[in-house]
Amino acid sequence: MFAGDEITGVDLDTWDVSLPAPVWVPEVDLVLHAAAWTNVDGAEDDPQGAAIANIGGTQNVAALGHPLVYYSTDYVFDGTKREPYVESDSPNPQGAYGRTKLGGEGAAAAGGQAWILRTSWLFGWTSTNFVRTMLRLAAERSEVAVVADQLGCPTYVGHLARATREVVDAGLPYGVYHLAAQGECTWADFAEAIFEEAGVACRVRRITTEELGRPAPRPAYSVLRTEKAGTPLLPNWRDGLRECLARLSA
Ligand SMILES: NC(=O)c1ccc[n+]([C@@H]2O[C@H](COP(=O)([O-])OP(=O)(O)OC[C@H]3O[C@@H](n4cnc5c(N)ncnc54)[C@H](OP(=O)(O)O)[C@@H]3O)[C@@H](O)[C@H]2O)c1
Repeated sequence: MFAGDEITGVDLDTWDVSLPAPVWVPEVDLVLHAAAWTNVDGAEDDPQGAAIANIGGTQNVAALGHPLVYYSTDYVFDGTKREPYVESDSPNPQGAYGRTKLGGEGAAAAGGQAWILRTSWLFGWTSTNFVRTMLRLAAERSEVAVVADQLGCPTYVGHLARATREVVDAGLPYGVYHLAAQGECTWADFAEAIFEEAGVACRVRRITTEELGRPAPRPAYSVLRTEKAGTPLLPNWRDGLRECLARLSA
């Protein structure tokens, strides 16, 4: 989506954002800030470390003084609603990751020129994510146990990238936007869809969050929708899954 633009890629090796920006970071028209402490369970053990990366890091990125896209998360909500969360709903994060990402939203907003894009359950054709993990597990075993009591919107990164571009190009006012796939499902539904679309024979054993026993709390319901006119709508998560699988097999 940004392929035609001149891009400076930055990673942890070249700039640890918990430190002020190195002098070589150029003047740019737009900063896409996706760097974060994303280890949700690990953040419970080291909330200070998560805060340094997610809040302090965002302060340093905002201090560049350029228009900024900050990617935030459905985990800023407590999951007690049973209808979609919209931008005006009050955040109430239950874990350290969500609290520090919410703090990062504040740091981004304080810079006065940030689009804060809340998204959820990201998957794509690179790196570690749920789709790739399920396909790897399906190659090793005939059954996987997957949580069936959390409801959310699995969002394909290709669709999020396109929507990000649309937000920026449309010149939408700075502020918070919910950008997640249409539709909703549980992780277990998502796993079944992955196996069905990929044509692999692997059963899904539906378990509860409690059975999985992860240290950090997760919202039981975190469907995100926008209430802001002009916000791009993403395709359904199942379309995203098909696109992702096509790209993976290409
Ligand atoms: N995944 C999701 O479902 C989801 C949902 C909603 C929002 N988000 C947000 O979307 C963004 C991208 O998420 P992701 O899933 O792609 O996460 P990811 O795979 O963990 O990517 C985060 C990147 O940030 C880097 N990083 C961590 N600490 C850093 C630091 N102090 N300085 C510079 N770089 C640092 C990591 O480097 P290393 O790999 O070398 O550690 C990693 O490359 C994050 O802001 C996340 O909060 C993700």
